[in-house]
Amino acid sequence: MVSRTLSAIALLASALPTAWAQTFTLCNPLNQTGCPNMPALGANLSFNFNETWNDKVWTKPSAGSINRIDEGSVFTIKMSGDSPSLHSKFYLFFGRLEVVMKAASGRGIISTAILQSEDLDEIDWEFMGSNSTHGFTNYYGKGNTTAGDRGFEPKMDSSPLDGYHNYTIDWTKERTQWILDDKVIRTLKFEEALGGKNYPQTPMNVRIGMWAAGDKSKNQEGVVQWAGGETDFKQAPFSMVVKSVYAKDYTDAKEYSWEDMDASGSFDKVKIIGYRSQVFQEASKPHGMDRIAALSTTTKIAIAASVGGVVLIAVALITFCCIKQRRAGRREFATFQAQENQEKAEFMMHKQNWESRASRYVRV
Ligand SMILES: *[C@@H]1O[C@H](CO)[C@@H](O)[C@H](O)[C@H]1NC(C)=O
Ligand SMILES: *[C@@H]1O[C@H](CO)[C@@H](O)[C@H](O)[C@H]1NC(C)=O
Ligand SMILES: *[C@@H]1O[C@H](CO)[C@@H](O)[C@H](O)[C@H]1NC(C)=O
Ligand SMILES: *[C@@H]1O[C@H](CO)[C@@H](O)[C@H](O)[C@H]1NC(C)=O
Ligand SMILES: *[C@@H]1O[C@H](CO)[C@@H](O)[C@H](O)[C@H]1NC(C)=O
Ligand SMILES: *[C@@H]1O[C@H](CO)[C@@H](O)[C@H](O)[C@H]1NC(C)=O
Repeated sequence: MVSRTLSAIALLASALPTAWAQTFTLCNPLNQTGCPNMPALGANLSFNFNETWNDKVWTKPSAGSINRIDEGSVFTIKMSGDSPSLHSKFYLFFGRLEVVMKAASGRGIISTAILQSEDLDEIDWEFMGSNSTHGFTNYYGKGNTTAGDRGFEPKMDSSPLDGYHNYTIDWTKERTQWILDDKVIRTLKFEEALGGKNYPQTPMNVRIGMWAAGDKSKNQEGVVQWAGGETDFKQAPFSMVVKSVYAKDYTDAKEYSWEDMDASGSFDKVKIIGYRSQVFQEASKPHGMDRIAALSTTTKIAIAASVGGVVLIAVALITFCCIKQRRAGRREFATFQAQENQEKAEFMMHKQNWESRASRYVRV
């Protein structure tokens, strides 16, 4: 049932024209009405990724594992279809993002730390798993992907794939700066982006993750070539590590609204509401750890066993344990399964998102 639905969607997606895929978003306020308000960060926050990421603050919309180690969170692609990523539930309306990370090695593997809005404004840091000398910066306004000189590829002092670097985006109404290890390597002024028309200027959330652009079974030939060649999944796992993230919103709002937005997509039509968001309160208290890591040992064994098809062992183990633990375990497992199902659905959406990113590379 699931696989039939998935392949039907896949067929549909592949038959759709590129333009449709490129403009994909959950709700584009320039084309749709009633797009939901966005929670503002309304403050600044640091996240140590070796500790917790709170699932009330970050969502993980697609397949692939994210595990914590002493150094940070390890994002891993093990197989075709994995594209582990975290998206912030909070939005910045002009702001600053600092990500300390080590990008993934591997042909065709792209590591990303970006800001993106629901009407497809976007500011990027990206890394290619087969390029140890350069980083990639880019921006888009309103999903306009027609060829332009948007990209800039700074030479790095040391490989982005071997060590940690600090990748910062400082984004104001007047200009955007990309800062590499304390050095401003690029400044984009508002007017320089097609007189402001292509300038990113609506509330954006943080999206950190990786994908296999070199996956031949999923991407067009042009994308595979852009990515540096075909990904050899026999070389998997491919991993990137995020050590820390700092985000600062340049307003102290509670939320942002599209209510007054018109076709211009202009920053002065974004409505700023209230003071200090719920997400900020949530983010200030550390909890809601990485789901699987936070499950009890019993539940982990049950999940491992049933995933491997050895349900009997799990049943035996669970029967052994005290009733209370068993109930808690079941509840956790049910939640886990529900989340898995939700992730499957969200993955399809996410896949289209990646496809839209991919198709733009072909054109640029
Ligand atoms: C809005 O939709 C039209 C077609 O329905 C499309 O041509 C246009 O590119 C869309 N605009 C945006 C900003 O998505
Ligand atoms: C971050 O926010 C705190 C209040 O939460 C404030 O005291 C501090 O000055 C801010 N830091 C920066 C760099 O804006
Ligand atoms: C996480 O990293 C921070 C900063 O590097 C460090 O102070 C802290 O001890 C680390 N925590 C763990 C659990 O390793
Ligand atoms: C890395 O990227 C830079 C900038 O695009 C390019 O000049 C260089 O040839 C690339 N190196 C490899 C190994 O692809
Ligand atoms: C998209 O950007 C290009 C330049 O990069 C520009 O020539 C074109 O007019 C833009 N399209 C729209 C619809 O703004
Ligand atoms: C990252 O670089 C920015 C820009 O120089 C700097 O302000 C910030 O303190 C650095 N962050 C970390 C965690 O090193």
